[in-house]
Parts: sequence; C-alpha cells; structure tokens
Amino acid sequence: MNDTRSQGSAHGQWSSRLTFVLAATGAAVGLGNIWKFPYIAGEHGGSVFVLVYILCVAVLGVPIMMAEVMLGRRGGRTPVNTLRMLAAEARASRVWQIIGWGGTLAGILILSYYSVIAGWTLAYLQYAVTGAFANFTGDGASALFAQSITGNPLTQVVCHTLFMVMTMVIVARGVNRGLEQAVVYLMPTLVALLLILVGYAVNTGHFMQALAFLFTPDFDKFSSASVLTAMGHAFFTLSLGMGTIMIYGAYVPKTASIAGTSVAIAAADTMVALIAGMAIFPIVFANGLDPAAGPRLIFETVPVAFGNMAGGTLFGALFFLLLLIAAWTSSISLLEPGVTLLIENFGMTRSRAVVCIGLVIWILGFGTAFSSNLWSHVTLFGLTIFQQIDYLTSNLMLPLGGLGIAVFAGWVLTRDTSRAELNVRNTAVYTAWRLFIRWIAPVTVSIVFLHAIGVV
Ligand code: PHE
Repeated sequence: MNDTRSQGSAHGQWSSRLTFVLAATGAAVGLGNIWKFPYIAGEHGGSVFVLVYILCVAVLGVPIMMAEVMLGRRGGRTPVNTLRMLAAEARASRVWQIIGWGGTLAGILILSYYSVIAGWTLAYLQYAVTGAFANFTGDGASALFAQSITGNPLTQVVCHTLFMVMTMVIVARGVNRGLEQAVVYLMPTLVALLLILVGYAVNTGHFMQALAFLFTPDFDKFSSASVLTAMGHAFFTLSLGMGTIMIYGAYVPKTASIAGTSVAIAAADTMVALIAGMAIFPIVFANGLDPAAGPRLIFETVPVAFGNMAGGTLFGALFFLLLLIAAWTSSISLLEPGVTLLIENFGMTRSRAVVCIGLVIWILGFGTAFSSNLWSHVTLFGLTIFQQIDYLTSNLMLPLGGLGIAVFAGWVLTRDTSRAELNVRNTAVYTAWRLFIRWIAPVTVSIVFLHAIGVV
C-alpha cells in the first residue's frame, strides 16, 4: 500500500475540479450562512463576534480545510477508514480513527436539527407561494411564526419528514450523480436573490445602522463565550471538523490544487454570510425587531421585506426555494460520512445504509421539533434539546474534530507525504500551511476551549 494515491475513491469521483468546488461550496453554503450566522451574530452583539468569526475562518478554517481535502484525497474512504489507513501508513496508533467516529456522529446529530429548520423553510416556501406575506409588518411576521412553527409540532414533523426523504433520495443515488447537477445554477441564483434583498434593505433607511452593528467593533460586548461560539461557527459554516470535506475530498481528482480551492470555498462562504447579514439587519432595525431574537430571526425579517416589495410573492417564493436547496446540498453532505461508514464497514448497500442512518436522524429530529412546544420544559443547564445538540456539535465536537485533524495532518503525517499530497508548487505556501496546521491552529483552538471552561 505504498502508493495509495493511485487507488482513487471507492465511491466515485467528481467529473472535474469545478464540480468539486461547487459541491464543497454547496456543502458549506447552507442554513449556517443565511439562517444561523445572522441570528448568532445578533445574539452576541454583532461586530466583535463577526470579526472573530472572520479571523477564525482565515486562520483556522483555510488550513484545516486544506488538511481535510488532502487526507480525504489520499485516503479515498469514509473518514473512519481514511484515518485508520493513514495512521497505519505513518505507523501511528489506530486510536486516530476516533476523529472519524466523532465526526460521523457529529454529522448525524447536526442533521437531526438541520432537517427540522430546513422543514421550516419548506413551510415558508408554501406561505410565500400563497402570498401570505403581503403588506406584512414585524408583528404579523412574529405572529405567523409563533402560530405556524413554534406552536405547531405537527407541521414541523411533517416538513422535517419530507426534507429527510428528499435528502435520503439524493444520497441513495450516490453523491456525484445526485449532487453535481444541483449546484451549478442554484448557488449563483441564491446569491442574486440575496442581493435583491440587500437592495430592499438599503431603502429601509437603516442600512448604515446595520453596517455599524456588523462591522464597527464594540469591545464592551466581548466575552469568552462569544469567542467560542464564533470559532464553532467558523467550523460549522465551512463544514469542517466532521469529515464532510474529507469525504468530498476523496472524490477529488489528483490534479486539483487544494490550496487555491480551499481559499475560494472559504471566501465564497464568508461572502454569502456577510451579504445575508447586510440584508437582514436593516430590516430588523427598521421594524423594531430584536437582533437577539434567536433562530426565528430570518423567518421574522425576510417575509416583511418580501411582503412590501414589488414582485415580492415571486421573489419571496424563489428565496425560500433556494434556501431550501442550499440546505439540501448541505444536508446531503452531513449524511454521507455515516452512509459510507455503513457501506465500507458493515457491508451494506448504499440504499440500505441510507435508510438505517436516515431513520435514526429522523427520530432524533423530534427532539428539535418539540423543543419549542411539547418538550420545551425538557432542559439541561437551561438549554432545550435543540440548543444542547447545537452547543454540543458546533461549540465542542467540530472544533475538537478540527483540532484532531490539524494535529494528525501536522504531526502524524510526514512532511513528504503532506507535501506530495498537497502538491503546492510554491514552497512558501507549504511552509506557511505547515506552521498553521502544526502550531497556530492547535494552540488557538486549545486556548479558546480552556478559556471558555475557565482554565486560562
Ligand atoms: N456548512 C453548512 C452550513 O453552513 C452546515 C454543515 C456543517 C454541513 C457540517 C456539513 C457539515 O449550513
């Protein structure tokens, strides 16, 4: 097994470098950018949070993404087996495969709530199509959300079920067949619609206030909890620390440049989040809504904008449709590590593996669907089931996974291996990457963790 590089992936290959870029961008750009980023930025007071998040994307995100693609391409298997194989190749302990198990579990947990939120999007698509947002005010939008989502566990379960089925169908077809066509046109259209929303937001008269909120640092709002959340979100939004990018990397042709690709994906992902923020906060301020409203933030702001603009029914419907598709391309990637694990290690067919994991995730999703109603009293440390799964995955599992990947790629793999696999022509780029992956990323993640739990 000296030259694993000639083996390719057991599960197929992207037809070109561009498809990998699009698929990885499809995995990265999702609810995290448009639904989650604005609401957590709002909860953490805006600017400083945004700054720390951007820093984490650049300093931790890009080098770790390069490491994940590199490991995935070299291993060509499900993350558990990729790590086991590369550890064996480097004569290191089998224990390293634990990163793969942790990541696979994180994907399952994330998808359980992600699918419920995607279900909300599905419900809102239906409202948009029927013109329900016409002449909406902030109050009207809040009332619709309270009545149709928070107070309606049945709608949530039905939409969550539909969305899980949509995801499972694509994954059962195999990622490259199911996914490639989906991303080429849809991502650019989503960005265009976000820009239309920004156009509306500019005219609310509160655009400058929103820019100040997002970009003028106010260090009074600085807290170590915010730093941990910002770091966790950097991992979440780039789909890092859980093996998604690793498994997508497994389908990458050997000739592609990993460094350039990673920078492009991280930049595109960050741009989408910032544009979403610029679209949403002016509407928040113009309508007297609460920036810290939490997960319902976009469902209370976006309908107001579309309800009051010319052509709003059409644009509103398109917006929720594209958000749904963005969530779809991400959820596919959340399911893939678990499915490939069952195929490789338990000898299942792809369809059977999809059904097994899909069922588990579907049932787990009830915890989130009922967090705002039937089970709202079920809390631990004051957090509902949804909040706990989110905290556990984004703030703990993904950064820890990222830390493990950085240490593995930087310290366990030999310099020759990583150099050959990354295949960077420019020595300075390689040296910088190695410095980041060996020192800067592990030290930063560790400090943020220790600080958040009160040790330093
Ligand atoms: N990055 C996706 C988003 O921002 C979520 C995701 C996380 C997808 C982890 C895959 C893996 O919505």
